This record gives sequence, C-alpha cells and structure tokens, in this order.
Amino acid sequence: KKKIAIMTSGGDSPGMNGVVRACVRMAIHMGCDAYCVYEGYEGLVQGGDLIRKMEWHDVRGWLSEGGTLIGTARCMAFYERPGRLAAAKNMVLHGIDALIICGGDGSLTGADRFRAEWPSLLEELVSTGVFKPEQIQPFMHLNIVGLVGSIDNDLSGTDATIGCYSALARICYAVDLIEATAQSHSRAFVVEVMGRHCGWLALMAGVATGADFIFIPEKPREDNWRQEMCSIVEEHRKIGKRKTIVIIAEGALDKQGGKITPTMVKDLLADKNGLGLDTRITTLGHVQRGGTAVAYDRMLATLQGVEAVKAVLEATPETKTCFIAITENKIIRKPLMEAVLDTKQVATAIESQDFEKAMGLRDAEFAE
Ligand code: F6P
Repeated sequence: KKKIAIMTSGGDSPGMNGVVRACVRMAIHMGCDAYCVYEGYEGLVQGGDLIRKMEWHDVRGWLSEGGTLIGTARCMAFYERPGRLAAAKNMVLHGIDALIICGGDGSLTGADRFRAEWPSLLEELVSTGVFKPEQIQPFMHLNIVGLVGSIDNDLSGTDATIGCYSALARICYAVDLIEATAQSHSRAFVVEVMGRHCGWLALMAGVATGADFIFIPEKPREDNWRQEMCSIVEEHRKIGKRKTIVIIAEGALDKQGGKITPTMVKDLLADKNGLGLDTRITTLGHVQRGGTAVAYDRMLATLQGVEAVKAVLEATPETKTCFIAITENKIIRKPLMEAVLDTKQVATAIESQDFEKAMGLRDAEFAE
C-alpha cells in the first residue's frame, strides 16, 4: 500500500485544515495509507509520534476549524543536512515516499531541495549502516507536491493562495467596525494590515472597503505622497465624508525605499497646521490570520487537496516538483520552482528599489 504524508509548514493560514482533511480522505479513497506529520518539518526531523497514521474519521469537522490542527513550526534543523538526513531516515522507517506540503514559498523551496537531495541522503543512510541497501530499494524516488497556504497571496503563478480570502474578509469586517466609530467621531483611522513583501491584502481591502488612501510595497509612493494624501482626504471631507480610512501594508515604502509607517501617516493626518484630524492607528495583526476559513478557502483547500493526491499518484521520477495552482478558475499543476523564482524576482526588485521592474512583473503575472 502506498503511504502518503501530509504536512503544514510556515505561518498558518485559514484553510490548512481543509487541505489536510481533503488529502487524508482522498488518499484513503485511492487505497493508500494517509499520514500526518505534526509540527511541520520539525515532525519529520524528530519522527516518532509526530508522524501519525490517520483514519477517515480523524479529520471529521476539520473544514470549519481555524489555524492548523497538525501544528506548524519554523524548523532550523531542516536547513542543515543532518536535519534532512534524520527526516529521510524517519520517512523510510514509516515507509513514506510521498509528501504533500501546504505552506508558503519558503516551505515549498525547502521541500524541493529535500527532493533533489533525496538519493544522496539515502546513500548516506546506507553507507553509515543505518539501512541495508534492500531496505531503501522501494524508496528510491521521493515524490513531493506543494499546496500554497498563505494569507498574503504572494506566490506567482496562482490566482489565490489558500487563506488569502479569509484574511481579506476579516480585514473588511474589521474596517466596517472601525468605520462606525470613525463616522461617529468624525475621526481618521490608519489601519495596518499584513503583507511584508506583498500588498495584495492592503490593495484589495482598500478596494473592498472604499478606503481613502492605500500604501503597498510594490508601488512606493512618490516624494509628494504627503500632499497627495492630504489633498485627497481634504476633498473627501469637503464632499461630506465624516470618516477617513487609510490602509497601509506592513511593508509599505516610499520611492527612496524608506519605510512608511502608520505613525508617520497618523502624524500627518493629525497635524494641526494641516488637516488636524483626530486620528487613531489600528494594527490588525494576527487577527487576520486566525479564525475559520471563508467558503472560498474551504473550497480551494478541498479541490486542491484532492488534486495534490492525484498528482502524487501520477508522478514519475522524471516529473518536476509541482504545486497546485488555481488559474482562471481551474485547478491545475504547475512546476514549483518556476513560480518560486518568479516570486523571488519581485521581492528582489522591491529590495533593490527597482519598482518599475516589480510592478512589471506583477502586471505580467495578472495578465498571464
Ligand atoms: O506570511 C504570512 C504573514 O502573516 C505575513 O503577512 C506577516 O508579515 C508574517 O506572516 C508574520 O509572521 P509571524 O507570525 O511569524 O510574526
């Protein structure tokens, strides 16, 4: 019987439990044994009780649970070869040679590296006497499939990552709440949302709530952003708006690559020599990441989880590591490393302040 393991890694995102449920049940449906690796890569490195066989009923009710019930961790040991060697040993001990990982681009890159190294890890386990050659014979090829779980929607090549619409819904809900009190007091609010390198959450939340002004990392504000923001807010106030909402991504930048912080924006809106608005800052923080998944993320998790198991079962030693994407509403398989490299190019362009390039890459992605 083929044994397939499922793991969540990196920052949690709403929908991860739906992924685990779908993979476990699809694996069982296809006549395989399903395993969960608890605590992300840490579970692979430590093995033992952290790698558990799952039954159909073990994942009952998981669609409506937030976070990840099998845990996740940022595992330093897996970055080193001895850690990966221990992971390979534990997988062989459990008879597992197929792994489905739900995480962000960092976690998925780690998975691809593990797969590339797999033959040499097995060789070392034989040469050091841990296993006899015949013991590793059935495990010569490691099969890995990625599912993108992240609230940031920050992986190139897929229209939506699992969790991003839940985080967006939560931001919209929070802004609606803030608006009621802002309106009552005729106040301004600067709302900071997550997204270190990716402004998708801030941009879409701005569109969905009708915010007055938005700051994102990919489109740094011109030097005159202060005048620009103040004149727009002033105009809105003149036409009768009693509330002002400015949404700022945590990675917001100006054209010089300087950070634009919520405090800078607040001080400007509150400046007595300018607009003089009574202004507050709200940092939404991990509220955006926790909680249950919206219907879209549950659906995405389920359809992609099913496809991941199919991909694992159909893979050959020649198949490149793939991830499951959604493109134009279709669930499809794509080569993982190309998407990771495209994503890295955007982050590098932002870091080196080549914003034209960053925007071009994002535009190309949307046009794809
Ligand atoms: O990548 C998801 C994310 O939520 C980012 O938006 C945010 O910058 C980061 O994780 C926060 O990480 P941590 O939970 O480790 O503080």
